[in-house]
Amino acid sequence: MINIKKPKVFVTREIPKPGLDLLRKFCDVEVNPHDRVLTKQEIIKGVKGKDALLCLLTDNIDEEIIASNPNLKVIANYAVGYNNIDVSVATKYSIPVTNTPGVLTDTTADLTFSLLMCAARRLVESDNFMRAGKYKGWGPMLMLGHEITGKTIGIIGLGRIGSAVAKRAVNGFNMKVIYYEHDGPKPEVEKALGVKYADFDELLKQADFITLHVPLNDQTKHMVSTKEFGLMKSTAILINTSRGQVINEKALVEALKKGKIAGAALDVYEEEPAMAPGLNELDNALIVPHIGSATIETRTKMATMAAENVIAAVQCKVPPNLVNRVSLEQWKCKI
Ligand code: DGY
Repeated sequence: MINIKKPKVFVTREIPKPGLDLLRKFCDVEVNPHDRVLTKQEIIKGVKGKDALLCLLTDNIDEEIIASNPNLKVIANYAVGYNNIDVSVATKYSIPVTNTPGVLTDTTADLTFSLLMCAARRLVESDNFMRAGKYKGWGPMLMLGHEITGKTIGIIGLGRIGSAVAKRAVNGFNMKVIYYEHDGPKPEVEKALGVKYADFDELLKQADFITLHVPLNDQTKHMVSTKEFGLMKSTAILINTSRGQVINEKALVEALKKGKIAGAALDVYEEEPAMAPGLNELDNALIVPHIGSATIETRTKMATMAAENVIAAVQCKVPPNLVNRVSLEQWKCKI
């Protein structure tokens, strides 16, 4: 019997079984045995002698880790966002980086709308009120919230997820949708979705709900801070399912305390898993633990997709969801 050596993969945390099963068909797989985020030294130990790294958004894949094994044939992120990986360093070492786009678009748009509705109609506060035995009967002024149907929603970043949110807003809630894009208007998309472009400041002034769908980078870091809260309506509700660092969280706590805006609904935080002091004490902040893509179906698709990216790369094929440009000549996987 010929003993063909399988490529070796390090997976930084257990992911849904179908992804691991698929990987195991083609690779020798080592999975972090602990149910926690690994330290940098543990990741460096894990990637030693491996051909591929499958990592999560909670792993900060920096130069030290990448340089510890420049022979990696791929770094496959189990997420659509890949700000946790120093892509320019990976590119310098000719290591392909991949992500999991598309499969979590509707799931994240659904969570965005759940947050919007929960915050507008004060569902968590109402639930807590009931459980605390405070309900003494129907009241004309009890738990008054904000109307959703027909209101204006401002979408910052009209990519895949932003567009899916726009569809829900227009078709489901008859909302007026305005959007801002760093690169300016997208006439084709505007026509298809029935949405209108607005300047950033204009959007902040006009929208009743503001939702963020931009990747985290130098341009978007703290794009919503004290000045921006000052432009928003005092009745506005801000929703974030993108990345925490897009908002200056300290400034948000101040804005919520001072009533500069009516509420915020957050899935992501600046220094996850920590939150800015005071945020968790505010009734007008709805906070959930980064669950934008957390459905069994979507996380399974993400696992399979990340596995497919690894398998392609270790077989020296260009992975389907490549996010950087690497020179094929310098790629450690010679074709
Ligand atoms: C992503 O894929 O970037 C999401 O944040 C995961 O939920």
